[in-house]
Formats: sequence, structure tokens, C-alpha cells
Amino acid sequence: MVKVGVAGYGVIGQRLADGVALQKDMELVGIADLAPTLSIKALKEKGMPYDLYLVEGADKSKFDAAKIPVKGTFADLIGKVDIMLDSSPGGVGAKNKALYEKAGVKAIFQGGEKNSVADVFFHGYANYEKGLGANYLKLTSCNTTGLIRSVDCLDRAYGVDRVAITIIRRVADPGDYHRGLTNALQMDKAPSHQAVDLMTIMPHVEATGILVHTPVTHGHIITVVAHGKGGKKITAGMALDAFKSHDRIRVVSIDDGFLGNASFFRYARDLGNPRGDMYEIGLWSDSIVESGDNIMYAINIPQESVTIPESLDGIRAALKMQNDSKAATAETNKYLGLGKWK
Ligand SMILES: NC(=O)c1ccc[n+]([C@@H]2O[C@H](COP(=O)([O-])OP(=O)(O)OC[C@H]3O[C@@H](n4cnc5c(N)ncnc54)[C@H](O)[C@@H]3O)[C@@H](O)[C@H]2O)c1
Repeated sequence: MVKVGVAGYGVIGQRLADGVALQKDMELVGIADLAPTLSIKALKEKGMPYDLYLVEGADKSKFDAAKIPVKGTFADLIGKVDIMLDSSPGGVGAKNKALYEKAGVKAIFQGGEKNSVADVFFHGYANYEKGLGANYLKLTSCNTTGLIRSVDCLDRAYGVDRVAITIIRRVADPGDYHRGLTNALQMDKAPSHQAVDLMTIMPHVEATGILVHTPVTHGHIITVVAHGKGGKKITAGMALDAFKSHDRIRVVSIDDGFLGNASFFRYARDLGNPRGDMYEIGLWSDSIVESGDNIMYAINIPQESVTIPESLDGIRAALKMQNDSKAATAETNKYLGLGKWK
């Protein structure tokens, strides 16, 4: 049983912890955080299903005052695990890395860290084998994780050599106040980092794209224009077949009631998924169109939960639990119940 710890029990960390707890070949040893946040208070109210450890700088008296049990220090947690999933705020993971190195413990960082924090910039489907045995992995960001899932799906089935994307990016997570109360769209300079990141993970694909921040919280939408390798045309039917066969892509239609990002959030809540999470990206069958030699489609990215499966794949790669992407993603998918909607 592989022993795993989670540093930073925020939006991503609590979902990572739940994801690890669902994997029957992994044990969640505990989580670490700095402050008695609402997420930590909710954990306490749920009966402390996960042991809590405090990072340096935490004021234990505040946890004591809130009657939140503390199991030990961050060093105690690091000393008990084979690998840490670091989902502390962007930039903090790089500082935590010194502690992981000192203890000789592997770690997986999230998208807010610089690429230089890790040996391998990782995606469970597109470059799993590069992560085999690596000490430090960095996961792609939420948009890039979902984008690469879909591009890799077409690439494996038919070959892709060029993509152009437009990202309609939710500006904050539900519950956030730090972005203010907004009513405006904001442009990023092109190319968006997600297009650049895709080329780092899939160097044989030329990518570019534009990103528009939008004042919504439930999911990003990305439109993708993809060109088949060597000019080999990918038809709408071919694309649909490939997407339908992928266990982390939920193919839906507007006629079925999936009108947009909010429909996915509502559906996830109707399914009873914790926090309204979805591990899978949504893909509208009625968005798939051909444009000359190109194929175009649109996907929905549930930003809070989409990186969890690939993070778990990262554990499998770093600890060589499975030797290839197909076997590893199949294990992760099995324990998370992915593909069961088909
Ligand atoms: N929120 C998203 O939609 C999203 C999606 C994909 C990736 N990410 C990435 O995941 C990472 C975490 O983002 P988040 O949205 O979960 O942040 P968050 O602010 O919700 O959570 C961060 C948690 O880390 C804790 N923390 C603070 N200092 C710490 C320390 N020194 N050590 C350990 N924990 C500490 C905070 O108290 C908080 O609970 C970032 O790299 C971010 O870019 C976020």
C-alpha cells in the first residue's frame, strides 16, 4: 500500500485527499495546513476522517480553541509517507520542496508552481512514461489537463499536428471573494500558457491560443480547432467515436439539456457527487464540426476536480505502480468510477 500525504487542504487539496482515499492501493496518511480554514472546520465537523498535521508558522492555539485535533507536525507527516501531493498556494510548494528533499520523499506539485519545481511536467495520458520513477512531478493546470485529454485522445486515435484554442476561463472558484464582485471580460496576451504547456507535454503538436477571463465560477469552456497529422482529415464521426471511448470524457448534447457550464455543475450535484465535483471533462457532441481540413469541438472543464485523476496517475508513475499510461489510468479510473455513465 503506497502511503500518501496532502499539503494544503484547500480547493484542490481536499479533493486530492478524497481521491487518494478512494484508491484501494493507496493509503491517505494525513493532510497538512496552516490555518483553521473553513475547509478544515468542515473536516472537523465531519468527524476528522483525515489526520491533520500543521505546517511551520501555524498557530496551534487557534486549532485548540476551535477543538480541532492535531496529529503532529508537517515533518511528522512527511516522515510517514512515500509521496506528498502539494496543493499549497502557488509558490509555496517550491518552498515545501526543500523539506521533501531533506526527507528523501517524492512529491507532486499543482499548476500554480513554476515548471522548474519538478523534474517532469506531467499528464497521466500524454506523457505518463516520462514520469516513471521521477522524484518530482508537476501537474498541468486545470484547463491544460482537460485540453490535453481531448487532444491526446484524437492524437492517439488518428494523429494531430496542430491545434488552436480559445479558452473562456471562469475567473474564480465558487466561494472566492479575492477576485471581487466583477462584471467584465478580460483578455490575456496570446498565446495562452495552456497552448504553450500543451507543446511542452506534446512537443509534436504545434499549439496556439487565446484566453478570455469571464466573471463566472462553474467551469471553463475551451473551443479547440485541431489539424490531423500530415493533413490526414479527422471527420466529425471519427472524433466522436474517439471521444466516446475515453473514460475521462463525458460526451453530452445540448438537446439532452447540457446548455452550458452550469448544466454540468447542476448534473454533478443531482448525481450526489461531493461538492458538485466532476472528474471528467464534458464534450458537446453537437459542437463537433469540420472546417476544411480541421476538426473543431468544445469542452467543459470542472476546474476544481479535473486535475485529481491525473494527480493520482502521477503517484502511479513516480512510484512505478504501473509501467504505462494505459494500465495506470485504468486503475485510477476504476477506483474513481470513471466511465460508469456509458
Ligand atoms: N482552484 C482551482 O480551480 C485550481 C485548479 C487546478 C490547479 N490549481 C492549483 O492548485 C494549487 C492550490 O490551489 P487551491 O485553489 O487549492 O488553493 P487554496 O487557496 O484553495 O488552498 C491552499 C491551501 O493551502 C494552505 N496553505 C497555506 N500555506 C501553506 C503551507 N505553507 N503549506 C501547506 N499548506 C498551506 C491554505 O491554508 C489553504 O488551505 C495551486 O497551485 C493552484 O494553481 C487550482
